[in-house]
Amino acid sequence: MENLLEIKNLVVEYKNINNNTESVLRAVDNVSFCIKSGEIYALAGESGCGKSTLSKAVTKLVKPLSGDILYKGKSIFKQSKQEKKEYPAKVQMVFQNPYSSLNPKMKILDTLKEPLDINTKFSKNRKMAVIKQVLEEVGLMEDCLHLYPHQFSGGQRQRIAIARALILNPKLLIADEPVSALDASIQAQIINLLRDLRQQRELAILFISHDLNVIRYIADRVGIMYCGKLIEENVTSSIFNFPHQEYTRTLLNSAPSL
Ligand SMILES: Nc1ncnc2c1ncn2[C@@H]1O[C@H](COP(=O)(O)OP(=O)(O)OP(=O)(O)O)[C@@H](O)[C@H]1O
Ligand SMILES: [Mg+2]
Repeated sequence: MENLLEIKNLVVEYKNINNNTESVLRAVDNVSFCIKSGEIYALAGESGCGKSTLSKAVTKLVKPLSGDILYKGKSIFKQSKQEKKEYPAKVQMVFQNPYSSLNPKMKILDTLKEPLDINTKFSKNRKMAVIKQVLEEVGLMEDCLHLYPHQFSGGQRQRIAIARALILNPKLLIADEPVSALDASIQAQIINLLRDLRQQRELAILFISHDLNVIRYIADRVGIMYCGKLIEENVTSSIFNFPHQEYTRTLLNSAPSL
């Protein structure tokens, strides 16, 4: 399998100004790893270790100080005009709280149609066909199209958010704590949905979670972050059975009922 995404010596810093003194926080510190097409790569590590910052760098929401991010072998900071336009469609995000990531004033139909209106010249019929297909993939009925986000349960809302993320046919989905706000039975459904989507679409997923049980179930490989650094990475079974770093062992020991 080819590398879809390569992160090379990435450094991201935040500058904070407090009482006229400027301080610099290195949120991502010289991180390198790759994600292959169709692979589920999980990032774990305690709160504040830089997981979300790293994903924001991949989606260009924050600018790294140094290092590089390659998508299909090419730096995302050296893209042609056309590649720049296409990149956001290829790398999509799903967040922890589906209620705040969906526009409460938009019907589901419009929520799903908007990315197609902005990014494609598809005919009305083709747009509807894409919307219906994606809805089916995420396990929702067509009659939900005329409802608003508040009319759904948390799990259904996360399905809608996933549908919107899929509508432009991405190659990489970044899921930042996608099930943390859901109760256990619904978590399992959404996790299985992501696994199915990976299978059917050969979708790569960067899966960010503090829940090691979920990671063990879904991920092919796992990277452990600590204070901005990627301190260990391996295939999932090796991380869980033969952790190399003391911190990884501590993290595994602190997880409930592994
Ligand atoms: N916009 C920002 N400005 C300044 N500092 C920030 C900003 N965003 C994050 N940070 C800091 O950068 C560090 C990494 O934050 P980040 O959100 O990437 O961590 P995380 O691993 O995603 O944590 P969590 O598991 O709680 O979501 C933290 O110390 C955080 O306080
Ligand atoms: Mg985070």
